[in-house]
Amino acid sequence: MTILVTGAAGFIGGNFVLDWLAGCDEVVINVDKLTYAGNLDTLKALEGDTRHIFVRADIGDREIISKLLAEYQPRAVLNFAAESHVDRSITGPGEFIQTNVVGTFNLLESVRGYWTELAAEQKAAFRFLHVSTDEVYGTLAADDPAFSETKAFEPNSPYSASKAASDHLVRAWHHTYGLPVLTTNCSNNYGPYHFPEKLIPLVILNALAGKPLPIYGDGQQIRDWLYVKDHCSAIRRVLEAGQVGETYNVGGWNEKANLDVVHTICDLLDELAPIGSRELGVGSEERAVVSQQTGTTPQSLLPTYRSQITYVTDRPGHDRRYAIDARKLERELGWKPAETFESGIRKTVEWYLTNQDWVSNVTSGAYREWLDQQYGK
Ligand code: NAD
Ligand code: TYD
Repeated sequence: MTILVTGAAGFIGGNFVLDWLAGCDEVVINVDKLTYAGNLDTLKALEGDTRHIFVRADIGDREIISKLLAEYQPRAVLNFAAESHVDRSITGPGEFIQTNVVGTFNLLESVRGYWTELAAEQKAAFRFLHVSTDEVYGTLAADDPAFSETKAFEPNSPYSASKAASDHLVRAWHHTYGLPVLTTNCSNNYGPYHFPEKLIPLVILNALAGKPLPIYGDGQQIRDWLYVKDHCSAIRRVLEAGQVGETYNVGGWNEKANLDVVHTICDLLDELAPIGSRELGVGSEERAVVSQQTGTTPQSLLPTYRSQITYVTDRPGHDRRYAIDARKLERELGWKPAETFESGIRKTVEWYLTNQDWVSNVTSGAYREWLDQQYGK
């Protein structure tokens, strides 16, 4: 059996493929365009593994996608590929429309062509799983109930509008053509292999580099954080047992204000890689030991990463609060996240401290240009 996964050189897709092949031997065809956000280093552990076949292609390229479908006969297509960063969608929305809307449309058409020709049994078993976001639902006031699957779409950014459009297309391809689709709408992910343009990895890496930690506006915007491996397990569960045509919200039950998230990261770094110990160039555990052994300074007087926090101009149209009601997934499919925010963020910080090679490879020229453009030189 085979599955075809798009966008699996990215953050969530990459984690998904690593977890998938750690748990089973079903072959994965990974179709990724390798935009600035795609990084094959994430999948280095799979080099030479015949269960992972990488193809560099655009989801909108019907000829290539149709050829791949005919050749590999996947039992499911999972669509992670997207332009995913809200700030980039504000400075350049065109790519978001192209990939998230037009690309998804073309992918659906390629998949429909393939699925229509399948024998009855394969046709009934086939699934198209579309990975989407809670941002399609819009923004919440402090006391509004969390987003349920029936909440009306009210997207506010070019990114969320393009994802909402793709969700509508997926829905329509089910209702009109009968394509067996599943959609997941998840909250903010974090964890290993996260590209450092997003809040959590950006803050970890800026902190370690002695750079400002940019907080948009008052830092009281709320996101509902989901550890990426929990998201991957939810997707596996929905693929396995989800009801065709249904959408499932995936969340971590971890609503946090941005400033609290940044404080937590600073405190973990103060513990695992205290300022001043970094120059010693040793691992995080050793750093803590060295700092205890050599430091005569009382803990309270040590410098803290919190001092690098810098308030910057707010994002235009910044959504105030997202919160996911994930009870449907728990009730109907028995899925619950395994990590709390506290356990997941510690794992994440530790991962960035011990995977500096991955970090230095992704922080290329293109990445530095984005930082200059977004935050000023
Ligand atoms: P990402 O930006 O890290 O990765 C996207 C991947 O898609 C990259 O590897 C990129 O090269 C590839 N890609 C982009 N355009 C493509 C195209 N036209 N054809 C083929 N490949 C293309 O994104 P991510 O954070 O891994 O997000 C994956 C999915 O999950 C997206 O659909 C996103 O909207 C959704 N999502 C993400 C989050 C989050 O917190 N990261 C939250 C909710 C939903
Ligand atoms: P982000 O990681 O870009 O995800 P999203 O916009 O999809 O929620 O941002 C998470 C939150 O952090 C969001 O409210 C914007 C805020 N933020 C900052 O305050 N500073 C930053 O430098 C970045 C990138 C984000």
